[in-house]
Amino acid sequence: MAAARHFRSIPPERPTVADLIRFGAKEFERAGLAFGHGTGSAVDDAAALVFHVLDLDHADAERAYGRRPSARGVERVLETFAERIERRVPAAYLMGRMWFAGLEFEVDERVIVPRSPFAELIHARFEPWIEPSRVRRILDIGTGSGCIASACARAFPKAAVDAVDVSGHALEVARRNVAKHRLGRRVRLLQGDVFEPVEDQRYDLIVSNPPYVSEAEMRALPEEYHREPALALRAGRDGLDVVRRILAGAKRHLEPGGALFVEVGDSDVRLQKAFPKLPFTWLEFEHGGGGVFMLRRSELH
Ligand SMILES: C[S@@+](CC[C@H](N)C(=O)[O-])C[C@H]1O[C@@H](n2cnc3c(N)ncnc32)[C@H](O)[C@@H]1O
Repeated sequence: MAAARHFRSIPPERPTVADLIRFGAKEFERAGLAFGHGTGSAVDDAAALVFHVLDLDHADAERAYGRRPSARGVERVLETFAERIERRVPAAYLMGRMWFAGLEFEVDERVIVPRSPFAELIHARFEPWIEPSRVRRILDIGTGSGCIASACARAFPKAAVDAVDVSGHALEVARRNVAKHRLGRRVRLLQGDVFEPVEDQRYDLIVSNPPYVSEAEMRALPEEYHREPALALRAGRDGLDVVRRILAGAKRHLEPGGALFVEVGDSDVRLQKAFPKLPFTWLEFEHGGGGVFMLRRSELH
């Protein structure tokens, strides 16, 4: 079996699905893979790939674990494990999809893999920070796959969403996802820099997961992150280039009573130093992640 030479131990004979997941997880850990792309651990990563390749139903996982795939099925799983190890490709790109806020999104190397803690905020409809019934217009800056814009449109069925990205390639992926979720009437995709495509329009809610990685952090990132578009991660020497522009224009684009939510990850400390007078509210998440702030229109300069 050609894939076998990529592994440190011998693949199990006539394995069950559970055996394959265990084997993959062990090999992934030994190979020092990174799991920051929506799966979270070696076991999750291996399980996602096995279920995807064998077209198994996650809703019936218990039964699936005991199944013995055909020899060809096992071979295809091992080939996929080998690719994950050799090329350090995030599992989501190998599968061509990832789940975010309960929705499935198509992904490929034109967009980052959806994984933002924004999913939790969307699930709570941004309460207690805003009054959901008042939200009629939403702006998503740096929409990538369109995951945050689409999930917001689902959470606020009466709202219209503008989704901006500077990358035409990313917008091609977003277009597929907006169509997949039948949101074409309410999600408008616009190409351009930060607020430039929306001119002087105003919104009740502005959300953004912009690029926020500094030059030094970029160099230290595991290889998996270098499979993602650099434009989606890198934001100047201190990682704040795009966030600065969002802060500069947000007040002008928010309705009275509106609020801005931005993910800045580990750039939070640098951001607070750069803007000591802004009263950032840093949000807490039950399911992990952080580095997301909220500012009301009245708190912005
Ligand atoms: C971190 S990704 C977030 C993608 C998606 N919102 C998500 O959460 O998965 C940042 C996105 O911002 C886009 N971007 C980078 N610079 C931008 C700019 N100046 N104006 C608008 N979008 C930008 C990138 O192309 C990328 O798709």
